[in-house]
Amino acid sequence: MRVIPVNNYQEMSDLAAELFIQEIKNDPEVVLGLATGGTPEATYRSLIQKSQDLDLSRIHTFNLDEYEGLSPSHPNSYHRYMAERLFEPLQLKASQTHLPRGDAADLENEAERYEQLIQEKGGVDVQLLGIGENGHIGFNEPGTSFTSRTHIVDLKPSTREANARYFEKKEDVPNRAITMGIASIMDSRRIILLASGERKKQAMAKLLNEDKTQDFPASILQDHPYVTIIADEPALSAVSFEKGEPAAEYMADQREWELR
Ligand code: F6R
Repeated sequence: MRVIPVNNYQEMSDLAAELFIQEIKNDPEVVLGLATGGTPEATYRSLIQKSQDLDLSRIHTFNLDEYEGLSPSHPNSYHRYMAERLFEPLQLKASQTHLPRGDAADLENEAERYEQLIQEKGGVDVQLLGIGENGHIGFNEPGTSFTSRTHIVDLKPSTREANARYFEKKEDVPNRAITMGIASIMDSRRIILLASGERKKQAMAKLLNEDKTQDFPASILQDHPYVTIIADEPALSAVSFEKGEPAAEYMADQREWELR
């Protein structure tokens, strides 16, 4: 895993947008894996600002997850989140953007359909990830099998709590969601994981300093051949690096470093 330390949320976001732009320039048919939540919001804004000269007509996007029961037009659906923050500003066609349907009549079928669609489009080239405080990636909560494919999950109270800020009332946060599985995520050719803020410091310390365990889903990324982590100073503040040096020493000269 390659770690790129940055000073703050905006630097993280600008760099992530830059990496995505390079991906699109290198391959105009690139398949992008996308995430929602607070972390990638400024990345999407930065991508929109920098995208003027890009040919986006042949890219495809796949999102990680969607809440159960919310239609694409529901204001709290991830369909809506993506439409407002990225797809509409970039004028992507509906046929280019893919999310699992949380309102499908048969969610098991929907999970299978989504997994197949990803394969049909050639798999995800570069997947953007945030990380939950409990180590979840997508909505794969602690304990999820590392071999899981797109599936239906019960959301942990802590995750519903963390996401309640997007809903009018806490009780409105759905209890279940449909998410790409851990094996689906690991199939992506490249992964960019973003982490910003103190809230993520324990998760980053576990990811970077502790061993792989199903109790901390993101730890599987240690086995992926191509992971770039862009994280800011507060998110790295509890991480110790090789020889036990604190993050701050690495931050000082803005070095990149390899772990494992
Ligand atoms: C979002 C997703 C989640 C978030 C994670 C962090 O599609 O799959 O795993 O990346 O919950 O959320 P934020 O960015 O709001 O801290």
